[in-house]
Amino acid sequence: MTSQILREARDYEETFEKGIKEQERPAFHLSPRVGWMNDPNGFSFYDGKYHLFYQYYPYDSHWGLMHWGHAVSSDLLHWEYLPAALAPDEAYDKDGCFSGSAVTLPDGKQLLMYTGVVKETQEDGSVCEVQRQCIATGDGINYEKYAGNPVLTEEDLPEGSSRFDFRDPKVWQGSDGSYYAVVGNRPADGSGQILLFESPDGFDWKFHKILCSNKWRYGRMWECPDFFELDGKQILIVSPQDMLPQGFEYHNGNGTVCIIGNYDEENKNFVEERNQAIDYGIDFYAPQTMLTPDGRRIMIGWLQNWDTCNPSTIQTSWFGQMSLPRELSIKNGRLYQTPVRELEAMRKNEVRYMDVTFTDTLRLNGIKGRKIDMELEIRSVDDSNVYQKFAVRFAQDADYYTSVSFHPHDSILKIDRKFSGSRRAVIHQRRSLVRHQNGRIRMRLILDRFSAELFVNDGEQVLSATIYTDQTAEGILFLSSGLVNMDVVKYDII
Ligand code: FRU
Repeated sequence: MTSQILREARDYEETFEKGIKEQERPAFHLSPRVGWMNDPNGFSFYDGKYHLFYQYYPYDSHWGLMHWGHAVSSDLLHWEYLPAALAPDEAYDKDGCFSGSAVTLPDGKQLLMYTGVVKETQEDGSVCEVQRQCIATGDGINYEKYAGNPVLTEEDLPEGSSRFDFRDPKVWQGSDGSYYAVVGNRPADGSGQILLFESPDGFDWKFHKILCSNKWRYGRMWECPDFFELDGKQILIVSPQDMLPQGFEYHNGNGTVCIIGNYDEENKNFVEERNQAIDYGIDFYAPQTMLTPDGRRIMIGWLQNWDTCNPSTIQTSWFGQMSLPRELSIKNGRLYQTPVRELEAMRKNEVRYMDVTFTDTLRLNGIKGRKIDMELEIRSVDDSNVYQKFAVRFAQDADYYTSVSFHPHDSILKIDRKFSGSRRAVIHQRRSLVRHQNGRIRMRLILDRFSAELFVNDGEQVLSATIYTDQTAEGILFLSSGLVNMDVVKYDII
């Protein structure tokens, strides 16, 4: 039975999505059907389609009472909206259906596991959110909340753990047939920890162990965990709040960490080896992964930073978008990310320039656009005389541009959207240390109307940023100090 609150959300989105023209949203990045979007939720393959749910408040382009929006796709790039899947319509989730994940049950139903939020007034008058884990099952369109909800509560937490910060379950089925879930939580020390829970059937859950403790190393509370095997390693992804920068890592405040390690599945023991930021740009948070039927581990994140939401000069009836889905792998002990290969089928109108040598500025016929996929290889002409600087300006016209610039002598790559049309004093640039050989570096830049994602050295690093520049600014200009030799291959994404 569909509740009144869910029915209202479904009616609202159906009516008000009509007010958003196709060209006013990203073309191949998922944006909310209407209103506000944050974290990806329930990213899965179910009943022959990819499903992506998202933190959703249809009624405003600001964060509000959380619902789950829903879309499906056959290629992870063309998304079709389905009716909102969850609404805060039960006593145990009346103040929000927070983030969670999905798994397919043996009876063919899809199980969603999410955080139910209930506000509670404390003795001193302050209001805290009690967070508990809940279940809903469904057929890929309609979901029914489980009568036994909530399935994990404060009773299931280890001694001293906070019942106010207990959220974002990521569920999977183990090779032993049991179900497992990692959930973010805050221990007595006030920082973060990831808890591992276990269930024989997906409904009846119990605490297993503390899988990993932050101990104040990376920010405070760890949100949105994910835990999976990748190329013989075990990966724990978390989104810590309030991070301190460390060298060129972790500059995003609320950022992302990829912990690479090993897992002893029998004893459920995770041993950390090393860690890195997932995205070195400005806008990326709360990523979630899934395994495709052909065995690829794909990650999608919220292409946004909590600190730069809703810049007040932008008036739209939607806010928030997802990143490109990215294929993950481990190479040389690092996380590599490449755009899903399905994007190749959308690359049209190839324009190619090989072995172009230039200095100062260069514009190339046919190299422009705001929905493009452009590959660059940059080299020094003479290895004993490496150029000083290379830059590419895009979404460019007489008033605006965003740039990627590279200084080989200090190995620093910078993305800068200061002149993208922003009228606010928010973060506009991010620098990253990158690898190169005598100035030789590879980049792949993907633009989709309101975003730029830069994949460096075949996915060794990614820098992502949203840009709200007028769509008429579609120029691309190359700049250099010193002689640069370059290959450019550009496609329109259609
Ligand atoms: C992360 C997050 C989650 C929470 C959700 C609420 O961005 O804070 O921890 O479930 O957003 O919308």
